[in-house]
Amino acid sequence: MTQDELKAMVGQAALDYVVPGEIVGVGTGSTVNKFIDELALIKDRIAGAVSSSVASTERLQALGIQVFDCNAVGEIAVYIDGADEIDAKGHMVKGGGAALTREKIVAAQARRFVCIADESKLVDVLGRFPLPVEVIPMAANRIARQFAALKAEATLRMRDGAPLVTDNGQHILDVRGLAITDPPGFESEVNQWPGVVTVGVFAHQRAQVCLLGTPTGVRTLRF
Ligand code: A5P
Repeated sequence: MTQDELKAMVGQAALDYVVPGEIVGVGTGSTVNKFIDELALIKDRIAGAVSSSVASTERLQALGIQVFDCNAVGEIAVYIDGADEIDAKGHMVKGGGAALTREKIVAAQARRFVCIADESKLVDVLGRFPLPVEVIPMAANRIARQFAALKAEATLRMRDGAPLVTDNGQHILDVRGLAITDPPGFESEVNQWPGVVTVGVFAHQRAQVCLLGTPTGVRTLRF
């Protein structure tokens, strides 16, 4: 089974967690794109969506799903999103698609986070995937030096020869060489650094459920 097929499988399985008649929180990325395509097939049974990125908003709207502003709705029942890494407690690294800030905002608005991922994303310790950190541009070099003091290397994410600009008009540092053994503590600490908008560790907004795509079917992890 290809990785694409595994993603399609969990994208479809996530429909079981969508609450009829309610607004669904929608993440960002290639796995979520599979979920959005499935969601479009049952769009008459939901009230609409709250989205975590311009890319997901465009895909949802193109498929006829109404997208609401976060401020226009209250708490939502469920947020469905992918991850770059997830550990055995539901802590995640996210932001490979540069949407981490809005992802964390929508996740915080949801009662339940359902992570959808292929089995390659399950890890013992977070940090092998370069950790995305969204930063205010003028603080980027100083934050990189703070990571260097932790023996990690932060590089500015580029696109087409220029620093990538997020949906929020900020930049992304990708940090290599970390072993994040205390995800809640690490998230809290880095969040305090001036100029950090969002660190891509999702421990305070961890997953409650993970639907993991494996060659033998969907494995459901509950945390
Ligand atoms: C987007 O910013 C990310 O947090 C994604 O959720 C994560 O990178 C997983 O993406 P894929 O589903 O494309 O692997």
